[in-house]
Amino acid sequence: MSRILHRSLHEAPHLAVGGQGMFIEMADGRMILDGSGGAAVSCLGHGNARVAEAVAAQMAKVSYVHTGLFTNAAAEELAETVLGDEPGGLSHAYFCSSGSEAMEAAIKLARQYFLEIGQPARTHFIARRASYHGNTLGALSAGGNAMRRAPYAELLSPAFSHVSPCFAYRFQAEGESDAQYVRRLADELEAAFQRLGPSRVAAFIAEPVVGATTGCVAALPGYFPAIRAVCDRHGALLILDEVMCGMGRTGTMHAWEQEGVVPDIQAMAKGLGGGYQPIGGILIAARVIEAFRAGSGAFMHGHTYQAHPVACAAALAVQKVIRDDDLLANVRAMGLRLQAQLTERFGNHAHVGDIRGRGLFQAIELVADRGTKAPFDPGRRLHERIKRAAFERGLAVYPMGGTIDGRLGDHVVIAPPYIAEAAHIDAIVERLGDAVEAALAGVTGDGAAYRN
Ligand SMILES: Cc1ncc(COP(=O)(O)O)c(C=O)c1O
Repeated sequence: MSRILHRSLHEAPHLAVGGQGMFIEMADGRMILDGSGGAAVSCLGHGNARVAEAVAAQMAKVSYVHTGLFTNAAAEELAETVLGDEPGGLSHAYFCSSGSEAMEAAIKLARQYFLEIGQPARTHFIARRASYHGNTLGALSAGGNAMRRAPYAELLSPAFSHVSPCFAYRFQAEGESDAQYVRRLADELEAAFQRLGPSRVAAFIAEPVVGATTGCVAALPGYFPAIRAVCDRHGALLILDEVMCGMGRTGTMHAWEQEGVVPDIQAMAKGLGGGYQPIGGILIAARVIEAFRAGSGAFMHGHTYQAHPVACAAALAVQKVIRDDDLLANVRAMGLRLQAQLTERFGNHAHVGDIRGRGLFQAIELVADRGTKAPFDPGRRLHERIKRAAFERGLAVYPMGGTIDGRLGDHVVIAPPYIAEAAHIDAIVERLGDAVEAALAGVTGDGAAYRN
């Protein structure tokens, strides 16, 4: 009997005892193919010797110093590695221990920025429904996932408002062109600014590719430039949450590179350290830093473990491997293969309504009826059945429910490590295909609905 408060007290998680490359080893010797790096975390796969050596070396050198008095070489070199060429004008980094902490820092930095430049009325944030920004109370207030917010609704901050996501498969109207849909969403954001008072809004917050909540939903072309224009018109900052979709996951180092916009503050986490250490962080535009330099000179925020030497050493090694091994080229190539394989396997499937994503960040959305896009009864827990059926077939993926509104809908995120080879991609799709059939058989009684 475990003394850990696991995610479920009804169902114990599996004991992992090892990991190598694309596989996680179970106590009974079974090797589970890692089709999602946990929650799109393990970008280098498991047991990378270079990272392990870097962590051990850092432990032996400087394991911890407090940032009130010290900096450390690992953190400095990590910032230089990520920001050396000042991508999009981002010039400074702040490292913390998770994606939620990164979003807390992004929100507070934006708020304090407006104090620094003499606009104290900017206390409000606009984010999007069906988004996820973390589970701490500030990040959860920013998030728009109804299911995660519900138990804590009374604790969440009224400083956050929500507008519609850019989710074409579900919410683009019949007969509405891409340009019209984008215009409608930009108009909705403009209306939110007007309702709140344009000079009261500090920032708009969005995931460039929405991850866990809706399953790898990228915006339509033109969406981000349109919302950036609304923010610029009213002097608000743009915070992009790349905790899940960033650091190479979509085939470019930053997901925003494919959107034609640059954020003022960017959050990152999962792919930064690849799970070798808990680490997150934010990247900050030079003009924001300049305002702090000209003002108080200090971000009124901090954590005991910020810029942790061992966490930074792990992330530095991860980032070096990604660069030295040109892994983003592999993400793009294997991403295309994954997309093609998913399309071949599920493109005509009666219960797969959409296949979407970028790079090695792809998802399928399950539907009871392809024509009407009606979801399955959420009480059937289809996504959980798929997770179980996949595991039984030696595959770990990341299925989730509540795709549409936090309650309805099921999807599966497939986000393998950047080191994946063609055979891994093929095996992931094959096992996932079988798992989906098995799970559907339990839900519809019609496992034969799929005809190739
Ligand atoms: C987009 C996004 N933001 C923030 C978070 C929170 O990160 P963490 O779980 O490391 O606190 C997540 C985690 O899934 C995420 O996907």
